[in-house]
Amino acid sequence: MKTLRGRTETLWQVLLKLGGNASAEQVLTEALEIVCEETGAGEITLWLYHDAEKQLVAAVHAGDSSIVGTSVSPDHSLVGRTFQTGEEIWIPDTSKHPSFPAGRDEETGIPVRNNYLLSMRLGGKITGCLQAINRTAGEYSDEEKAILRSFCGLAAMAAEEKGLVFPVRSDRKVLVSLHNAVKEYASGGSMLRVLKDVNLEIYEHELLIILGESGCGKSTLLNILGGMDCLTSGEMTVDGRVFSHPTEKELTEYRRDAIGFVFQAYHLMPNLTALENIEFIAENTPNAGNAQEALDRVHLGSVANHYPSMMSGGQQQRVAIARAIVKNPRMILADEPTGALDYATGKEVLQIIEKLVREEKTTVVMVTHNAEIARMADRVIRLRDGRISSIQENAHPRSADELVW
Ligand SMILES: Nc1ncnc2c1ncn2[C@@H]1O[C@H](COP(=O)(O)OP(=O)(O)OP(=O)(O)O)[C@@H](O)[C@H]1O
Ligand SMILES: [Mg+2]
Repeated sequence: MKTLRGRTETLWQVLLKLGGNASAEQVLTEALEIVCEETGAGEITLWLYHDAEKQLVAAVHAGDSSIVGTSVSPDHSLVGRTFQTGEEIWIPDTSKHPSFPAGRDEETGIPVRNNYLLSMRLGGKITGCLQAINRTAGEYSDEEKAILRSFCGLAAMAAEEKGLVFPVRSDRKVLVSLHNAVKEYASGGSMLRVLKDVNLEIYEHELLIILGESGCGKSTLLNILGGMDCLTSGEMTVDGRVFSHPTEKELTEYRRDAIGFVFQAYHLMPNLTALENIEFIAENTPNAGNAQEALDRVHLGSVANHYPSMMSGGQQQRVAIARAIVKNPRMILADEPTGALDYATGKEVLQIIEKLVREEKTTVVMVTHNAEIARMADRVIRLRDGRISSIQENAHPRSADELVW
């Protein structure tokens, strides 16, 4: 409950917290909780600039929808604007604002009704940004704004003095990484730069979703990760080994043994049954699993002898998934797997993908246009014009059942 202490009293409580012995993360979180309560902010995030990553990282959060670990490029988003210019931004109603389609922050995907952004400064330099969202009602009073402004300075100082560590989940193993990845295509006599300095790590066992508008480079990125295409410059590693300029033979083996592909179009062979479509791939892959078992895993064991023309779109896509998993790949790459499907069959496919990741610990990278689907991911990457504009960590990924679009 809001207690309406005076400004001095509130800041004194904050200072007591910040002076405590606990870690920077803990004292800042506790101080933020006081600030939320005293100013009527629903939730507050502190975004701090990470020099090495050149990203603003959500380092501390008070409120329900924690986005700690999420990062945004300073070139995008309102957070970036406040960081670059120092501008204080107050959006009392996000419903008509272009940065909040369907009432959600376009970079972090969380529901935002109102949004207040202030810069954090240390010694005249902007070091980050405070974002207060979802105030219950009305405007911030002058007193409340003054508390938020003062807190920005105190928090910047505490983060520096106590050595705030940027959040990383250290238990994750990197499967594939890209460093300064650039991809260019020749186009009408000039070069078209489709991927521009992409830095990305794919972790084992995660569901990573890539979101972005048509033409921003999603399929290109997926093709690079899957060894269907090579980088123009930059570095790619697989299991920590450099894989930037593989030979044709290495590339073929990588595609065949390590990667399972699922596309929007199912690409099943029409003259083979569901089972035969999978057996065909299994026979050509070392260490492949059993074809019938793969069909059972996508709940299609009973239609093994059906031809693609006898199956629904959703069933055909599940055969395509079985064809990918029978290889026992290190990673499944899915490019708009639900793009051609209606709601119900699309959902069936997402449920299968969810089972692969959550129960069978498969690593899946999936491209979609649909921001709602991204809520089931462990991490969401937003691509804009060939660059990563944000990497969002979902502390609580939704189940496919819960999604509505
Ligand atoms: N082989 C190629 N040769 C030349 N240009 C290409 C090639 N592949 C892709 N491009 C161009 O690169 C850009 C990104 O294409 P890409 O297919 O990666 O986009 P996308 O994000 O997957 O789009 P969509 O959502 O429509 O599938 C586009 O401008 C496209 O025309
Ligand atoms: Mg595409």
